[in-house]
Amino acid sequence: MSAAIVNLQDHEDAARAVLDDGAWAYFSGGAADEISLRQNHQAWQQWALAPRVLQNLRGGHTRCQLLGQVWPFPLLVAPMALQCWAHPDGEAAMALAAASQQCGMVLSHQTSTDLQTVAQLALQDTDRGPLWFQLYAHGDRGALAELIQQVEAAGYEALVLTVDAPVSGARDRERRHAQARPAHIRAAHAQAPVAAAGAGLCQGLADRAPTWDDVTWLQSHTRLPILLKGVTHPQDARQAASLALDGLIVSNHGGRTLDTMPATAQLLARVADAVQGEVTLLVDGGIRRGTDIFKALALGADAVLVGRPCVYGLAHGGAQGVAHVLRLLRDEFEIALALSGCATPQAITRQHLLACTP
Ligand SMILES: Cc1cc2nc3c(=O)[nH]c(=O)nc-3n(C[C@H](O)[C@H](O)[C@H](O)COP(=O)(O)O)c2cc1C
Repeated sequence: MSAAIVNLQDHEDAARAVLDDGAWAYFSGGAADEISLRQNHQAWQQWALAPRVLQNLRGGHTRCQLLGQVWPFPLLVAPMALQCWAHPDGEAAMALAAASQQCGMVLSHQTSTDLQTVAQLALQDTDRGPLWFQLYAHGDRGALAELIQQVEAAGYEALVLTVDAPVSGARDRERRHAQARPAHIRAAHAQAPVAAAGAGLCQGLADRAPTWDDVTWLQSHTRLPILLKGVTHPQDARQAASLALDGLIVSNHGGRTLDTMPATAQLLARVADAVQGEVTLLVDGGIRRGTDIFKALALGADAVLVGRPCVYGLAHGGAQGVAHVLRLLRDEFEIALALSGCATPQAITRQHLLACTP
C-alpha cells in the first residue's frame, strides 16, 4: 500500500480515481439530497471524548462478545451488494481480507460471488471474526427457505434480516447512471428485485414488503441466531427483544434509503436504552475512524460494521486494500482505547463521552 495512504479518506480518494462514474454513483451515493449520508459521518464527530488518565492498561485486549461467542475485534464488514463491480475479486477478496485482520463479514443477499466460495475462504482462517449472511425477505418463501438451507450448510454463523429497505430508496445519483452496471455483474443468488421507489407503490409494488410475520416465519425456518438490521425506533427494538431475537443492527442503510433520517450516532443510545443489554447490539453508518468505533461502544454497541470504506479499499487495492482499511481502523481503535484509559472494549462507558453539539 502506498505510503501516501494513511487514513480512510485517502482510500476513498484512491477509489474515486479508479471507479467509473456509474460505479462511483452506486457505491458512494445515498438517497435524495444525501442528508442522512452526510450526517452519519458528521454525527460521530459531534461526540467528544472524555479520557481518563493514569488508568491501569495491563492485560489489555480488543476482544468482544457477540451472540454469546468471543471474537478478536468488534468490527465487521457491512453487507454490500455486487462487490465484483468494484473489483473482479469482489466478495472473495473482501472475505479473505476481513479474516486476515480478525474482523467479521456479513455477506449480502445480493452477493456477486456465490455464498459457498466466500464461506470456504473465510472459514479457513482460525483467527477470523464472525461470518454472517444478510437476507432480504421480500421474495418467495420457498426460495428463501432453500437459500437458508444453503447458508446453514456453508457454515454461516447468523442470519441478518434487513428490514429498512422494503423498497429501494430514491437515489438520485444512481438514477443518473441507470444503465451503468455491466451485464456480467449480477446477484449470484438471484431474488426478485426490490421495487424501485416511485414505480406505483400503491398499486401493489410494496405488497411483498416484509412484516413481523416474516420475522417469526424466519425464526421457525432456521437454527441460526437472527439479527434485524435497520432497527432505529426504540419500540421496534422492544418488539424485537420480546420476540427473543438475538441481535439488532442500528442502521439507516448508510443513508441509502430514507433521506433525512437522523444519523445512527444519534439513534444508537435510544435503542441501547430500550433493549438494556437483552440482545447483541451493533451499529453502522459513517464510521471512518477508530475513535468512531470507540464512541459507538460507549453509546451501547457491542460492535460496529463498516461499509463503503471497505469497498473503496477493494476497488483500488483488492484484498490488500481492504486489509489496509481494516488495519487502520484496528490501530486507531487501539490507540483510542489506550489514550482514553481503557484496557479493553468492555471498560468503555458513556462517561468517556461528552455531547458537543455545534
Ligand atoms: C454499495 C452498497 C451496497 C449495499 N448493499 C446492501 C445490501 O445488500 N444489504 C444490506 O443490508 N445493506 C446494504 N448496504 C448498506 C450497508 O450494509 C451499511 O448499512 C452501510 O453501508 C453502512 O454505512 P457506511 O457505508 O457509511 O459505513 C449497502 C451499502 C452500500 C454502500
